[in-house]
Amino acid sequence: MNFWKNLKEKQQKGIMVLAPMADVTDPAFRRVIAKYGKPDVLWTEFVSADGLFLGGYEHLVKDLAFTEAERPIVAQFFTGKPEMMEKAAELAVDLGFDGIDINMGCPDKSIEKQGSGSGHIKDPKNAQEVIRAAMRGATKNGKNLPVSVKTRIGYNKNELETWLPMLLETNPAVITIHARTRKEMSAVPARWENVKRAVEIRNEFVDSKGKKSETLIFGNGDVTDLEDADKKVLETGCDGVMLGRAIFGNPWLFSRSTQSSFLKVLGKNPQTIQKSTQGSANIIERLRVMTEHTKLFEELLPHKSFAIMKKHYKAYVNGWDGAKELRMKLMDAKDADEVETIVGDYIKGL
Ligand SMILES: Cc1cc2nc3c(=O)[nH]c(=O)nc-3n(C[C@H](O)[C@H](O)[C@H](O)COP(=O)(O)O)c2cc1C
Repeated sequence: MNFWKNLKEKQQKGIMVLAPMADVTDPAFRRVIAKYGKPDVLWTEFVSADGLFLGGYEHLVKDLAFTEAERPIVAQFFTGKPEMMEKAAELAVDLGFDGIDINMGCPDKSIEKQGSGSGHIKDPKNAQEVIRAAMRGATKNGKNLPVSVKTRIGYNKNELETWLPMLLETNPAVITIHARTRKEMSAVPARWENVKRAVEIRNEFVDSKGKKSETLIFGNGDVTDLEDADKKVLETGCDGVMLGRAIFGNPWLFSRSTQSSFLKVLGKNPQTIQKSTQGSANIIERLRVMTEHTKLFEELLPHKSFAIMKKHYKAYVNGWDGAKELRMKLMDAKDADEVETIVGDYIKGL
């Protein structure tokens, strides 16, 4: 039985997973998330299968680093070429991943040009080939890693009625539906009624051998927190929810403990938060974790630009009086030592 089925049996409320986000859910941030608010499943950032095997291995394999604390963890790849996906899946087996996910939703033009990302929606036959190739690679060395797909509801228009059955025919373990079309990018609110429809399509689906689909359907798009995710599970009947941008500055997102919920709500009531003792404690804890994250980034990803951390600072340092001044100082920081000094001075002044 694959780990998805185990989770499905355990999590009656729905499986809560972290979305793959390039230059966000990197090995450093994933370690922080696993420590402070672990989702049911973590995803890597997407990694180019072509890039891995056509010269970029040394560089790209670093994005696939993970620790035991992050399990279960799924590696996400993109490519338009079945043979490259098969090799990537074999690599995921070798690296010890728990699952393999295929990106079939990215709207980036350079990725689509390779016939991957949301480009797959325009060529469902090749999409099926790529999924089947991943499944072949996933069975290396007596393993049988589950293969999942992350996609959108269509390319220019809603094509769920035709696109989803093409995916279901290949029998992936999970299909995550980002409830927008490629054309909509992220410009309109996600339309969760399409996730509900996806569940119905899955429930009605019977494959060419007469077997009902056991693929899990996850919804994705604009979910703000676990409460919102729980509501979406009830409304749509989906098996799980994938949360992305809500994790910015909030590695406690997936924790249901009350201790963590103090930290999570920091941005909601700036004045009262800073004035209370609990408020200051929360700010200090938040800045401590931000510094820990920065040190991990420097240690694990020395080849990446430090500018990536600045996006995180904007989200961590937000929502209390005085946050803006601190944020501005952090924008000029060049390394983790400088960040630690700036944060230390700030805390002394609280
Ligand atoms: C900075 C950023 C990077 C992303 N990178 C990926 C990626 O590597 N693979 C992927 O499938 N989706 C990627 N996405 C899309 C997210 O996984 C998710 O589908 C999208 O953000 C909508 O979910 P949300 O509203 O919960 O953020 C990315 C999104 C953002 C904002």
